Amino acid sequence: MDLSTLQIPVQKTTDSQLANVDFSNLPFGKVNTDHMFICTFKDGSWQDPKVVPYQAISLDPSAKVFHYGQTIFEGMKAYKDSKGGVWLFRPEENQKRLNISAKRLAIPEVPKDIFMEGLKTLVETDHEWIPRTEGSSLYIRPFIFASGRGFHASPADEYTFIIACSPSGSYFAGKVGVRIEETYSRAANGGVGYAKAGGNYAGQFYPTQLAVADGYQQVIWTDDNAHEYIEEAGAMNIFVRIGDTLLTSPTSDRILDGVTRKSILKLAEAENIPTEVRKISVQELLEAQKNGALKEMFGSGTAAVISPISSFGYKGQRYELPQLEESYAAHFKKRITDIQYNRAEDPFDWRYPV
Ligand code: COI
Repeated sequence: MDLSTLQIPVQKTTDSQLANVDFSNLPFGKVNTDHMFICTFKDGSWQDPKVVPYQAISLDPSAKVFHYGQTIFEGMKAYKDSKGGVWLFRPEENQKRLNISAKRLAIPEVPKDIFMEGLKTLVETDHEWIPRTEGSSLYIRPFIFASGRGFHASPADEYTFIIACSPSGSYFAGKVGVRIEETYSRAANGGVGYAKAGGNYAGQFYPTQLAVADGYQQVIWTDDNAHEYIEEAGAMNIFVRIGDTLLTSPTSDRILDGVTRKSILKLAEAENIPTEVRKISVQELLEAQKNGALKEMFGSGTAAVISPISSFGYKGQRYELPQLEESYAAHFKKRITDIQYNRAEDPFDWRYPV
């Protein structure tokens, strides 16, 4: 039962852009809906939560987000079923993780009712923007940044929390080839790898550009010590299937606790699919590839859903993965999207009505 009494005021746009959008050809994350949620932290509390027309914001050049990267975000989606019902997927997991990230970046945590009511009010307000085309959904981006000013390298005294939405198609346009990273690291022990901090992603851009120049789409991040173990795949968690066993790396200081990742693990457990959550060495991967036991690899994430990996590169050599008739990737993608789009039973109560 929802006991929140918080009412979020809504200021509606008088200039809707909805009619200008080609819903049959949506890119990922480029088109924005008519409205956004905004709330500010000042004088020690989060204040004035409201939904307003989507608009540019004005910031002081000394805002600390520009200098010290004090910013975090979340990624979520809203789905429309065949009867027009609107659903979120495990939104409380994102709410909790936003505050885990906030704590690590010394950002004040957002009260649960502000996050949940702001999110629901925004999605309700922009519900006509939720695509009905297969494979498309409304991508939702909650984010917080240090809008307080000053060059002193310390936490800001003011913050802005915004939720913006984008009707989106697939994250990847084609095949996903990954290069196992041998030089750069995404995260370190004691660092911020487990948080959704903006800088975690900015730091990936250059190594990813190098991988793209080499003919790959993403980097497989390895540990920060000897680059011996695989950890994440670009903006996704990574899964490997060796024989019939599904493997993924354990979460740690360096690895994001992905909502899609933990949903796959729960489904695999319920279906008695042999699963191991443990470190996976590059050597083990290469040996399994050599002896034919490496059946598939895939990335998981809210944006990417479940994306099969078609090949991987290591030390200048490219290894192609087989195209399976019955892959775990296809199986889990169907199970998860069937729950998300209200096409199947929801045994774990993951669907959340708006
Ligand atoms: C998501 O999967 O929603 C993420 O936050 C990854 C993002 C970098 C696209």
